[in-house]
Amino acid sequence: MALPPPPAALQATSLRRAFGPVVAVTDASLHLAPGSITALVGPNGSGKTTLLLMLAGLLSPDSGDIRIHGMSYAEHGPDARRLVGWMPDAFGTWDSLTCVEVLTTFGAAYRLPADVARDRARGLLRTVHLEEFADAPAHVLSRGQKQRLGLARALIHAPGVLLLDEPASGLDPRSRVDLRHLVRSLADAGVAVLVSSHVLSELEEMVDDAVFINRGQTHLAPAVSPSWQWRITVLDPGPLHAWAATVGLPLAPDPDDPVAAGTAPFAGDLRPATFLVHLGGEAAAAALVRDAVTAGVAISRLSPAAGRLEQTYLAMETERR
Ligand SMILES: Nc1ncnc2c1ncn2[C@@H]1O[C@H](COP(=O)(O)OP(=O)(O)OP(=O)(O)O)[C@@H](O)[C@H]1O
Ligand SMILES: [Mg+2]
Repeated sequence: MALPPPPAALQATSLRRAFGPVVAVTDASLHLAPGSITALVGPNGSGKTTLLLMLAGLLSPDSGDIRIHGMSYAEHGPDARRLVGWMPDAFGTWDSLTCVEVLTTFGAAYRLPADVARDRARGLLRTVHLEEFADAPAHVLSRGQKQRLGLARALIHAPGVLLLDEPASGLDPRSRVDLRHLVRSLADAGVAVLVSSHVLSELEEMVDDAVFINRGQTHLAPAVSPSWQWRITVLDPGPLHAWAATVGLPLAPDPDDPVAAGTAPFAGDLRPATFLVHLGGEAAAAALVRDAVTAGVAISRLSPAAGRLEQTYLAMETERR
């Protein structure tokens, strides 16, 4: 007998939302499991923010159904909202409120007792490395610091579902790494996370799953393509071409590499050249390295040409043309 599916932290079915004549979301469905991190990926204007606003209970769908741990916003608005944390892609200013006051104000809106809200506010400001600004007015924060305050704000009521719209935009490299670790530790504690971003390489390291959206319609990530593009760099293309011909491996010059593309002369010893090959995965890559090195090819680098999310995204775009 098949096991029942795990209970969804968030389940959205057939959502639609129009703004006048513009249908921003035509048909969106997704499912977030507790403890999982899901990417929401799509081009500009594809409906990500509109979808996230509906999932956060801040915008009503024209039709469709949203359940947060089984509860709809229509029937259980306050209880459902209390389970959801929302971080928008940009923040307004909060006049003269200090960072702690911004967080405790939101805590009060979620009916946290004042002392609990204050403790959580201080703790979260430490987590997002803003403790030195705790009592400073929030409007003095830089854009990236505001973004971090926004993350703390989304977490003030310890939500079980966390919705992040472009959370890394404006963050410096250190803060991006911190964000990744924080999101993973929240998921490890059982939070279901949905995160939109255009920086696919960054999402790649963060997420367990992906939902693609295009023109307001969601698609599950298509089946993983059997072959992915890898980039191989060799010290001398001659032996690589010879070996590739004997084993029947098609090589394409990397268009970004003038030496491989033949538009710059190969100067002999230290002008490495890069080519693109299709390989089935890590095992095929390991076999290639073993066989090519045995055949005398001097490989200095072999790596996936792009992450899986990026390749899937580009493949879907191509399919649609
Ligand atoms: N309040 C609104 N009024 C009118 N049209 C809107 C409104 N909000 C969004 N839209 C339109 O809906 C479509 C989807 O917008 P949305 O902001 O959801 O896209 P997005 O995927 O978040 O884009 P981006 O990657 O640029 O953030 C766009 O065509 C946009 O112009
Ligand atoms: Mg958006």
